[in-house]
Amino acid sequence: MPTQTEGRRAGHASETARVLASVLLPNVARGVILRRPLATGLAAGLDTDRAAAGVLHGLRERHGDDPFPISLAGRRAAVVLAPEDVERLLRETPEPFSPGGREKSGALSHFQPHGVLVSEHADRPRRRWANEAALVPGQAIHPDGDTLAAQADEEALALALALEGDLDWRRFSRSFNAMARRAVFGAFAARDYRTTELLRALRARANWAYLAPARRATRTEFLDRVRANVERAEPGSLAARLAEDAAEDADVRPEEQVAHWLFAFDAAAIAAFRALALLTSLSPGGHEVREEIEDREGLDLPLLRATVRESVRLWPTTLMIIREGTRETFWRERSFEAGTAFLVVSSYFHRDSTRLPYADAFEPGIWLDGRAAREPALVPFSGGPAECPAVDLVPLAVSLFLRSLVRGRRPARADAGGPLPASGLPRSLNHFALRFSL
Ligand code: HEM
Repeated sequence: MPTQTEGRRAGHASETARVLASVLLPNVARGVILRRPLATGLAAGLDTDRAAAGVLHGLRERHGDDPFPISLAGRRAAVVLAPEDVERLLRETPEPFSPGGREKSGALSHFQPHGVLVSEHADRPRRRWANEAALVPGQAIHPDGDTLAAQADEEALALALALEGDLDWRRFSRSFNAMARRAVFGAFAARDYRTTELLRALRARANWAYLAPARRATRTEFLDRVRANVERAEPGSLAARLAEDAAEDADVRPEEQVAHWLFAFDAAAIAAFRALALLTSLSPGGHEVREEIEDREGLDLPLLRATVRESVRLWPTTLMIIREGTRETFWRERSFEAGTAFLVVSSYFHRDSTRLPYADAFEPGIWLDGRAAREPALVPFSGGPAECPAVDLVPLAVSLFLRSLVRGRRPARADAGGPLPASGLPRSLNHFALRFSL
């Protein structure tokens, strides 16, 4: 007969296997740095996010609120289960919870070894400061909002006018990326497809983190191009703000901060395309947002910006937020040694129907009336000192682009999925497969 300890160990091993198979593998398979179309479609078809949430709820019921320890090939990790612990991890960043860590450094070093996210203590504050000076978190309307609006208008209108047939992801993301390059560098970069192509190749390798050696020649070509673009950056562009700030501090490495921006604008494109699915949904919210689009002038589109936040709440583009303990940390009943990776599975928290009445519905109002702000684990843009510095820029840029694209038109879902329902929204939404008629 097995002893109690052996029984516990075996139980723990089977729990770990379940977390690995249902939670971690589907996330890694989809591609952490560059989404893979096939695995993304499979994950949506198999509803893996729902299965993952079920496993985590079960863990919390059986083992309590503390992060649940797992060990993966000798790597110590812990899955976070309680919303208050998400708040603690993000607030106590970068000490004792570092936003860098082995996996992230391994992945990001493929194209930005000195980006702020993976910067150690000595360099982090000035790189963070330079990012904030350019991206201006905390301000709903970026100081260069007018420039941004003009760029969004031009690219979105050109897209709508040139469109023959339905709008698919390839066409949409090409125009969105062009807007992103203009926003980052200025008009001259609109047709700089090469930079985006190089970044794509590097990101595909980055999915393998430190398991794939970096392609040094490609990385050098990419970063050289970004550096040259930063040096030419036009007034009113994001890089011009960064360059001004970085001029006094060589360690900021502007081209690597900008490399992260170009990478992250892809998440914004995905969020934007899914927001279009929300606009065309059967939910009453969709109708209200379309009214705002038709009726409201100027840069301030609160409902449409809230729709972008709903898009990333419902279908987070950062599948997992990771923090690494820099020393031993103490929780309710457990302690974790230095080096433990704490894993926050975004959709488990964002879609927690045991806590959030609106878990599976499109409810943009939560971002306007304080309900979302009161929830410690609704963190599509992360939170605390390492929160996404584009937390306000992204909703602004996307709202301006979508308004220009949709205004005066009758957007509708055109793929076989049909319009999203008013309630019970699917846990995954494969953006590669979405199509719209305008
Ligand atoms: C839908 C779009 C986006 C979402 C949902 C998003 C979300 C996030 C999240 C969750 C993090 C924290 C990651 C972590 O802790 O591992 C982050 C970090 C960051 N994001 Fe974003 N992001 C988006 C777009 C952007 C864009 C367009 C930019 C730049 C123009 C940007 C710049 C950054 C930077 C520089 C960091 C690192 C911050 C630090 O470590 O201090 N993001 N973002």
